[in-house]
Amino acid sequence: MPTRKIDRKFNRRELLQAAGGITFLALTRNAEGLFESRQKPFDARHVHSPLPVFTAPPYLQPGQNGSKLTPGEESIVIAWQTNGVHADYKLVYGATTSLNKTATITSAVRSVVDDEDGQQRTNYIAELSELDLNRRYQYRVSMNGGRLAEGYFTTRKPRSERTRFVAFGDNSCGEVSDHAIAYYAYRARPDFVMNAGDNVYDNGLDSEYARYFFNVYNADVPGPRIGAPLLRSVPFYSVLANHDATSHDGQKRNVADFDRHPDALGYYTNLHLPLNGPVPNYPTIAVGKADGVDRFKACAGGRYPNMANYSFDYGDGHFLCLDSNVYTDPTDAGLQEWIASDLSATDAAWKFVTYHHPGFTGGKEHYNEQQMRVLAPIFEKHHIDIVISGHVHNYQRSRPMRFAPANVAGAKKVHTGDRKVPGEFTVDRLFDGEKQTKPDGVIHIITGAGGNELYDPECNNSPLQWTHAEDNHADYVAKFVSDRHSFTLIDMDAHTLRISQIDEWGGEVDRWRLTKS
Ligand SMILES: [Fe+2]
Repeated sequence: MPTRKIDRKFNRRELLQAAGGITFLALTRNAEGLFESRQKPFDARHVHSPLPVFTAPPYLQPGQNGSKLTPGEESIVIAWQTNGVHADYKLVYGATTSLNKTATITSAVRSVVDDEDGQQRTNYIAELSELDLNRRYQYRVSMNGGRLAEGYFTTRKPRSERTRFVAFGDNSCGEVSDHAIAYYAYRARPDFVMNAGDNVYDNGLDSEYARYFFNVYNADVPGPRIGAPLLRSVPFYSVLANHDATSHDGQKRNVADFDRHPDALGYYTNLHLPLNGPVPNYPTIAVGKADGVDRFKACAGGRYPNMANYSFDYGDGHFLCLDSNVYTDPTDAGLQEWIASDLSATDAAWKFVTYHHPGFTGGKEHYNEQQMRVLAPIFEKHHIDIVISGHVHNYQRSRPMRFAPANVAGAKKVHTGDRKVPGEFTVDRLFDGEKQTKPDGVIHIITGAGGNELYDPECNNSPLQWTHAEDNHADYVAKFVSDRHSFTLIDMDAHTLRISQIDEWGGEVDRWRLTKS
């Protein structure tokens, strides 16, 4: 598609058309924004060239912020995406309204269809660096010299600062329930979002991000049937999941096939997460003709395949995020060494692990996919407090528990759905999250009720259905809600975690807390 450079400024109504009506980029409207523009009304007689269509208006991403919380070394990414029409962008920012710094903006072409003359998008990335901790920064994005969007963000909190975050998985599918979860998560005013994977259905494609994700989680206005301006307000972390690699190659491996889906693996092109993990020995597999795969790699840059495993800190928490997909082998020595060293290095009061495939579920769905069970002893040794998973589309909270694998052979059966790991359970039945709040073991939560169809409805509030004969009927499940969509809300300070599960009408369906002595 030929592109023409735009050499003029634009007015308010043109922006509404071009940007889908960007209003403000933070939790509250600030300063003069788009709708206060004093430019003259739109006059069609003077429109002589197209403006970009925004497939993703500006959104925040965590960027390179990993496990170190160092004043003056913080950064954040502001990204946006358009169709192939070119424009000149500028992003200025600062801790005061003087906006005295200018960000470097880079861009990358993203293929949308497998046709050299077909549609392409341009992904723009601005990295804002040398920021302080826990500080509010203003920013403004301009296009062709005209004001496009402005707002603010707040950088990560250091130790001892109270932090609030939300977690949910299995969400963006176009259903009204994921709109409602986005809305109530936004209403909770979190510092960040921890997504548990299967962020976008069905195949993790760029086109699906445009259709189901950006318009809901980066909606211009909040509403229970609309979504919310969450992505433009706070960073959004995620992990790889099964819907990111849904094709099969000749060896029946789960892969991303760029012949079939030229815009596959949107995880690596849309998200900007820390790159402090190892080069994976079992990476996401990209197949197809070389030019299609090469175009993807050029757009993803160093994020593919390294963004599969990473860690970051926020307030008093350390967060380890892992790829648990069918092509990974969690018995891999290199991965386990990195996990152990990462967890050994942190001095955070609370330690969380997020991966998509839960090792322990009380329901029938996905019960056989037990590969992540093999990491339980490492998590117990390093005093992980909570493991957050999705994949199973409901909410489950385990009792504090320990698990000793008897045989890890099943976990090694990559590219299969039967990866059972038998072993011995030790369950802390004294912990109740109310009066007894010091757990003996790790608590595993499944928060996969973020929007897609619910699983295991027969298990809702029905404890007799929550055990498995193959697990010797170990009663590790404490709570099971499968009759409604929900998300997890966590308030964290150095001594206490207060945790609620909030449903799609804003009601609380579970509440518990953990304390440190
Ligand atoms: Fe899944």
